[in-house]
Amino acid sequence: MTRKSILLVLFCAVTLYSSAQPKIDPKTIADKMKWFADAKLGIFIHAGIYSVNGIDESWSFHNKKISYADYMKQLKGFTLSKYDPAAWADLIKESGARYAVITTKHHDGVAMYDTKQGNLSIVKATPANRDMVKPLFEELRKRDIKCGAYFSLIDWSHRNYPGFLKDSSRYSLQNDYDRWDSFKMYFQGQITEINNMFKPDLWWFDGDWEHSAEEWQAEKIRHIILSKNPNAIINGRLQGYGDYTTPEQNFPVTRPPFNWWELCMTINDNWGYQQADQNWKTPNEIITIFVDAVANGGNLLLDIGPKEDGTIPDQEVNVLKELGAWNKVHSEAIFNTVAGIPAGHFYGPTTLSKDSTTLYLFISGKTSGQVMLKGLDNKIEDITVVGTDKKLTHKVVGKISWSPVPGLVYVDLPEGMQDKYMTVLKLKLNGPVKLYRGQGGL
Ligand code: GLC
Repeated sequence: MTRKSILLVLFCAVTLYSSAQPKIDPKTIADKMKWFADAKLGIFIHAGIYSVNGIDESWSFHNKKISYADYMKQLKGFTLSKYDPAAWADLIKESGARYAVITTKHHDGVAMYDTKQGNLSIVKATPANRDMVKPLFEELRKRDIKCGAYFSLIDWSHRNYPGFLKDSSRYSLQNDYDRWDSFKMYFQGQITEINNMFKPDLWWFDGDWEHSAEEWQAEKIRHIILSKNPNAIINGRLQGYGDYTTPEQNFPVTRPPFNWWELCMTINDNWGYQQADQNWKTPNEIITIFVDAVANGGNLLLDIGPKEDGTIPDQEVNVLKELGAWNKVHSEAIFNTVAGIPAGHFYGPTTLSKDSTTLYLFISGKTSGQVMLKGLDNKIEDITVVGTDKKLTHKVVGKISWSPVPGLVYVDLPEGMQDKYMTVLKLKLNGPVKLYRGQGGL
């Protein structure tokens, strides 16, 4: 073989190899994230056998509040006897949510779908004897709601998973890589089957903290998903291989410096159904938390914990309906907007239309009187109360004609115009928002 022909063979081999490689991320990340950025609201569903006794999802045996054997007895009580995926999807739609994320497997290892990797699923091991995920995704998709799969990387039931109880391990990974390899086959097999069967629009991994990116093979997991579903969005709990950040329960005090983030939050104080937990957030609390997330450029992933029979607790249904009714009226100020103006200009959350010529101010439902705005360097063309045709008057004070300081805006909000939760004022500006952040001539 001449040198030239060797090079030719090499060239062909490389070309063939690279064209055989699945194309990953054909679109830019920003393109892929577009629906997510506009979605603002998702519903998180923690469904699992822990709802039978109403105890902590998976953590109850991990933390030795209950023995593993007793925890697993709950399998016998999980019936889904009243599960109505169409009604769930209707409720989710009614809330205004644009996506939903359901647990396909929590840390307890119980698959909520018909896994072919072993027998620990609600299909094979509970009286429910059915797959929860498949019919829900079908109903959600009929209603144009994006479908997310929560998947726990941790699997405290699998005999080849190293950690099991809080302070004991089945084995140490360093001493038994073969065993870890067989666990990897198992959980990556589940990811592959979920990816093929359900084609999730979004993957919501959890539990990545127990191992490193190399140990989980996070890059490979991303590849498995995107080679089949190139547009799938992956949350940030994949040891650096996800697309967005997921602060949990804790509302960020300052605006998170990320392009995409999502606050996941319970309606009471637990992810799963717990009869004893009656510390429900009110619709007002949920709406203000939601608005705060959106005003800071994030989404809210609001959790519900259904009961073992597949019904959703009344308090959660009520919150979703009230939130939905509020969203319906105020939809233009929430969906398809972007984060509002920086803190300091207004005592409350704000959002902006994408062209930033409309500014929305969110005000507690109880407020009336003068509402003040600082440093707005635009002319206001028009102010209305969102959801009504009521126009409001305003005045600008402290504007000296030759000074760059724009003065203070006072909007008059009379009584009787307030929403019972949050009132939204719509300020139509004379152009893209311009803010004065100077020192006033100093
Ligand atoms: C956690 C917990 C888990 C819960 C999840 C929801 O990391 O381990 O129980 O499902 O957060 O965000």
